[in-house]
Amino acid sequence: MLKIKTIEFKDEKLYLLDQRKLPNDCEFFVCETFEDVDFAIKDMVVRGAPAIGAAAAYGVVLAAGQFMKEDKDVFVKRLQEACDVLYNSRPTAVNLMWAVNRMRRVLEKNESLGNQEIYDRLREEADRIFKEDLSTNKKIAEFGNSILPQKATILTHCNTGALATTGYGTALGVIREAFYSGKDIFVYADETRPRLQGAKLTAWELVQEGIPSRLIADSVAATLIRDGRIDLILVGADRIASNGDTANKIGTFMLSVVAKVYGVPFYIAAPTTTIDFEIESGKEIKIEERSAEEVTHISGVRVAPEGINVYNPAFDVTPAENITGIITEKGIVKKPFKENILKLKE
Ligand code: MRU
Repeated sequence: MLKIKTIEFKDEKLYLLDQRKLPNDCEFFVCETFEDVDFAIKDMVVRGAPAIGAAAAYGVVLAAGQFMKEDKDVFVKRLQEACDVLYNSRPTAVNLMWAVNRMRRVLEKNESLGNQEIYDRLREEADRIFKEDLSTNKKIAEFGNSILPQKATILTHCNTGALATTGYGTALGVIREAFYSGKDIFVYADETRPRLQGAKLTAWELVQEGIPSRLIADSVAATLIRDGRIDLILVGADRIASNGDTANKIGTFMLSVVAKVYGVPFYIAAPTTTIDFEIESGKEIKIEERSAEEVTHISGVRVAPEGINVYNPAFDVTPAENITGIITEKGIVKKPFKENILKLKE
């Protein structure tokens, strides 16, 4: 386990390990207001679907602290507005909307209580969201590990570790679990341009844990897959549609296509909170487009000429047909996805 806490709510403040600064600096970004949390999510101080959900939940708690002295009606109205802001801080990962909606429900249910009591209820709910994610991750890791052979070379994309969740991780959690259980695991981590979550974050977690691994440029992956050097691809998800179509970090779709051509198993590891039962297919998933600077610059240094136009979608959708299975805390979902995903709804 990572020794450092990546998200922590203490002394009425939210401490986020600043993922923009890793791996060179280990600094905390301290949120005192819900606006700070909104900024932290947008600017990717905190990122990864489950992590932004948990951060937003604490953002609602901070808002309750900010407006505590207001009259009850104003207090509730301001909190609802804060929920709207946090809900819209990033568009693709559904865990964010799921977490904010959970907080909204607590607010609605307890509207007749005093401001302090509402604050306490919101704080309890945010703590629950935080803890549930951690235990969910552990279950995903155990289910995932159960399908890994004693010796495996795994390719992963983006960061799905302790940094992307409230601890442990989803796809990287499975890798952690396999490694801790004594399996002979080797990881290839895509650097994941443009934000370099693989190079900066996944590589950092792998090195901290001593998991045997190599960092590769994204364009190396296809060659490794073709040459039979990858046993399995394991990635996370930001939103899974009812039919199994899965939005994840840009570049995931491309990996799935190559995996299909060469018959390499392609698994998604994600909590059921990443499933959007409201949508039928990936066509309905809104894909975030981020700034041109993420492509024209690397670590603040311009690498492309002034005046060039840029297209920078942050995610893509992998069609369900390219996915071998979805590893959740409730078990491993296989095809037919539509039917089997519905069973997870309870
Ligand atoms: O833009 P990011 O860094 O928030 O994107 C993160 C991913 O795409 C992850 O793979 C996904 O959120 C799963 S994290 C457990």
